[in-house]
Amino acid sequence: MKIALGCDHAGYALKDAVVKFLADKNIELIDLGAYEYDKEDGYPAPAFRVGRAVADEEADAGILMCGTGYGIAISANKIPGIRAMACSTPENARIAKAHNNINVITLGGRVITPEEVPAILDTWLTTPFEGGRHIQRLNEIAQMEKSTLMAQFPSGGRVVVFNHPLIQHKVGIIRSVDTSVKQFRELLHEIAGLMVYEITRSLPLTEKEVVTPIEKTTVRTIEGRKMAIVPVLRAGLGMVDGILQLVPNAKVGHIGLYRDPETLQPVEYYCKLPFDIEDREIFILDPMLATGGSSSAAISLIKKRGGKKISLVCLIGAPEGIEKVHSDHPDVDIFIAALDSHLNDHGYIVPGLGDAGDRLFGTK
Ligand code: RB5
Repeated sequence: MKIALGCDHAGYALKDAVVKFLADKNIELIDLGAYEYDKEDGYPAPAFRVGRAVADEEADAGILMCGTGYGIAISANKIPGIRAMACSTPENARIAKAHNNINVITLGGRVITPEEVPAILDTWLTTPFEGGRHIQRLNEIAQMEKSTLMAQFPSGGRVVVFNHPLIQHKVGIIRSVDTSVKQFRELLHEIAGLMVYEITRSLPLTEKEVVTPIEKTTVRTIEGRKMAIVPVLRAGLGMVDGILQLVPNAKVGHIGLYRDPETLQPVEYYCKLPFDIEDREIFILDPMLATGGSSSAAISLIKKRGGKKISLVCLIGAPEGIEKVHSDHPDVDIFIAALDSHLNDHGYIVPGLGDAGDRLFGTK
C-alpha cells in the first residue's frame, strides 16, 4: 500500500508521528511536502498535490494535516474522486471509513497531539467500508462530480447536459427559424468546440519531462492513440471541425445510416473507422438525438468493429432518444447541449430546431 502525505505549517507538528506510524506498518510513503516548517505556507497546495496523487491512483490513499484538518479537507475535496474528512478521534475515523469510505484523512495539528495519531490512523486503515446503502450515495457524489449538470433517467445511464451560459446562449440562437445557414454552421461549430472541455475530461494523461528556460520539469500530456470522433452523416459533420480545432490529432471516422422504408430500421450504407478504433476513446457526433434509433445503431456498429469506450455527443436530445440509447447501451455516456421536452408525431424534437442536416447544408 502507498500513502501520499501532505501538510502545511500548522500540521507540520504531526508529521513525524505520521511518518513513524507508516514506517512501523511498512506502508510506503509518498511525501508531497511541506518538507520543513514555514509559517507562511498554506494548506491548499499540499491538499491538491495529495488529492491528485490519490485521484490519479499514484497513491492508494492520502493523509493531510493543517491546523484544524478543515481547510486542507475542503481543498482536497475539490478534486473529483476525493473523499476527505477531518478526524480527531478513532471513532470519527471509523465512521468516516465505514460510511463515507474516505480515501483521504485529515488531521489537525492544533486539535490533536502526536500521541493520538496512531490510534486514529490505525482505525481508519483497518475499518472496512460497509458498502450496502452507502454505495448509492457515494455513486451519486461521483456522478455529480463528473458533470456540469446531471439529468437522471430511469435507464440509469449517464447524461451530461451542458449548463454553461455560452452554450445555452448559442443554442438559443441556433434554434431560431431566422438563423441563416451560414450562422447555423458557425454556431454548430462553436458549440461543439465549447463541449470539448467536458467530453474530454476523462482522457488519460501520462507524464513526460520537458526543459523550461529555468529547469527540467515533469508535465502531463495526452499521449498516443487516444481519441476518435465519428460523425453520423450528414448532420454530424457540422460538429467535426469545432472539436478538431481543440483536439487536432483526433482521428475521424464516418458512419452513414438510412432508414429502411419498410422495416423503419436504420441500415448502414457507409462506415469507415480508424484502423485502431479499439484503442481509442470514441465520440460519436449526432446533433439531434430524437428517437435514438440511428445513434443506437451507430453505437452498435462501432462496438461490432471493436470500439469499447464510446460516448455520444449531441446538440439537442429528447427524453425518448436518451431512453432508447441507454436501454440498448447503458455503458455509453451521453453529452447534450440541451434537453428538450418530447418528440412530436413526426418524430421531430419539440421545441428542437427542425432538421439539423437541412439547416446545416441549406437543403430545405
Ligand atoms: C493556518 O494557520 C490554519 O488556518 C490552517 O492550517 C488550517 O487550520 C485551516 O483550516
